[in-house]
Amino acid sequence: MVDLRTRYLGLNLRSPLVASSSPLTGTLEGLVRLEAAGAGAVVLPSLFEEDLAEETRQVDALLATGATGAEARASHPDQAGYGAGPAAYLSLVEQAKQALSIPVIASLNGVSRSGWVRYAARLEQAGADAIELNIYYVSSRPGSSASEVEWHYLDVVRAVRQAIGIPLAVKLSPYFSSLANLAGQLVEAGAGGLVLFNRFYQPDLDIETMEVLPALELSSSVELRLPLRWIAILHRRFGVSLAASTGVHTAEDVVKVLLAGADVAMMTSALLRNGPDHLRSLEVRLRDWMDGHRYEMVDQFRGRTSQRAVADPAAFERANYIQTLASRPMPNR
Ligand SMILES: Cc1cc2nc3c(=O)[nH]c(=O)nc-3n(C[C@H](O)[C@H](O)[C@H](O)COP(=O)(O)O)c2cc1C
Repeated sequence: MVDLRTRYLGLNLRSPLVASSSPLTGTLEGLVRLEAAGAGAVVLPSLFEEDLAEETRQVDALLATGATGAEARASHPDQAGYGAGPAAYLSLVEQAKQALSIPVIASLNGVSRSGWVRYAARLEQAGADAIELNIYYVSSRPGSSASEVEWHYLDVVRAVRQAIGIPLAVKLSPYFSSLANLAGQLVEAGAGGLVLFNRFYQPDLDIETMEVLPALELSSSVELRLPLRWIAILHRRFGVSLAASTGVHTAEDVVKVLLAGADVAMMTSALLRNGPDHLRSLEVRLRDWMDGHRYEMVDQFRGRTSQRAVADPAAFERANYIQTLASRPMPNR
């Protein structure tokens, strides 16, 4: 019998298939469905720094009166995250912990070290098993250097790390000059896991109205290649847990990220497109693949195609790049 158990952020998961942060994980009903379909863990939608700055004072006052998250929620909407406010969020964490047996990871989304960071401790008190910190920051000031931007990331990570006792994962973008170096610094600052990667949503332009259009397109498996490369590079480099996020759709994608060295394969687009039950068929196919290759446990093949054995990953990447360009299809005429 194939054993899918894995460890992520020091937590024991029954399966490496994890539902990443999205509206699907923002209701208790959605979370229950995801667990029933086989999710090894769930990441709740993000609670945003912008929401917290406004509401933290009110919630603190309410909680100081002895009200629980559930009571505080009474006048809040059912869907947590996306502007619903901290009280609804706390309540979802509490309810999820009561209803689910898989780990519940709360998500914070912010860019600066300020009062909102304290909220991480509230999430821990509400029962969150870990916190995923999404630092979504588009640096557009010409005066701001790459090292300054990185300093901000590290500063926020340190602040959240200090506020909590539970594990902390950092979800970041791939757009850094020296991602491997930053990864090491994030680990030093207190990240126990890296979620590779956050997906930047790039707005489009309407050429008739000349307006900026928010564009939220779901991913495809082609986008898996970037996380795949970086997971292969970072596998076992800093003793940090690695989660693949962006482009995991099929069982083949799951096998690929595990071969590269991921501890878990996170999914949003695939679950939004196919529904939570997609996890069931992924699990069946993952088991079939492992069976066919005579693997009984994920650890037997995790990281088999990582770059750990490569002495100089940069030279390796460059050689691959040249080889890929040389093998490009030629035009017909
Ligand atoms: C509708 C929607 C809402 C999302 N909300 C969040 C969020 O609140 N916090 C977060 O960190 N990521 C959020 N994400 C990003 C996903 O968690 C995930 O990282 C991204 O979609 C890439 O993974 P995928 O290729 O499996 O979709 C959201 C994605 C979508 C499509």
